[in-house]
Amino acid sequence: HPFSSCPDFVVRSAAMKQRLLFLGPPGAGKGTQAQQLAESQGLLHLSTGDLLRAEVAAGTDLGKEAEAVMARGELVSDALVLAIVRSRLQAHTGGWLLDGFPRNVAQADALAQLLEELDQQIEVVVLMELDDAVLVQRLLGRGRADDNEAVIRHRLEVYRQQTEPLIAYYRERGLLQSVEAAGTVEAIAERIRGVLG
Ligand code: AP5
Ligand code: MG
Repeated sequence: HPFSSCPDFVVRSAAMKQRLLFLGPPGAGKGTQAQQLAESQGLLHLSTGDLLRAEVAAGTDLGKEAEAVMARGELVSDALVLAIVRSRLQAHTGGWLLDGFPRNVAQADALAQLLEELDQQIEVVVLMELDDAVLVQRLLGRGRADDNEAVIRHRLEVYRQQTEPLIAYYRERGLLQSVEAAGTVEAIAERIRGVLG
């Protein structure tokens, strides 16, 4: 067997999925889990929210365009977000973990087209599920610029209307795996590893 001389962990990490999406409502813990997993697996962690906040902080034209929209808890334009994702994925050869993108069906279709161009495929979509009451508590505890109660409620509404249709979208494509996102960070990480094996 070609792996017979390898330690067990090498075989297992070689089998672990390398092209992932994290899907779920604001506050589900996508960023927390994605950062840890990407680091331990050597994946590119691509969070469109983090990249947009970096543009805002740097005061770029893109950041100026996005800032007010983000403060309201609405989605910035598909074209703007797609340009960011396209440039990062084109410049990268290894595995990746997309966090907070795609956010609607148009973005999901555009991603599918981009990946076809790059001859790559999504291997799994991890859906992180959590009750609204816990989401709101987590976000109020964090206190990012868009973490006040009214904007959090609006982000949840935008999620239900625009992002939730992606659950059926990826389920139909046989890619969806749901993970209960309550409990400790480590317990959730363990559940996620369980669906990536
Ligand atoms: P984005 O940055 O993606 O924010 P979000 O979807 O609202 O989600 P969050 O980042 O708030 O939550 P998360 O699931 O990552 O949770 P986290 O790990 O941080 O988007 C922000 C804005 O950017 C959007 O509103 C939009 O305007 C724009 N945008 C971004 N992407 C876009 C796109 N593709 N298209 C258009 N617009 C886009 O955890 C939350 C808190 O809980 C933290 O304090 C964390 O420490 C804590 N926590 C995590 N896990 C646990 C746990 N197990 N127990 C207790 N606390 C925990
Ligand atoms: Mg996040």
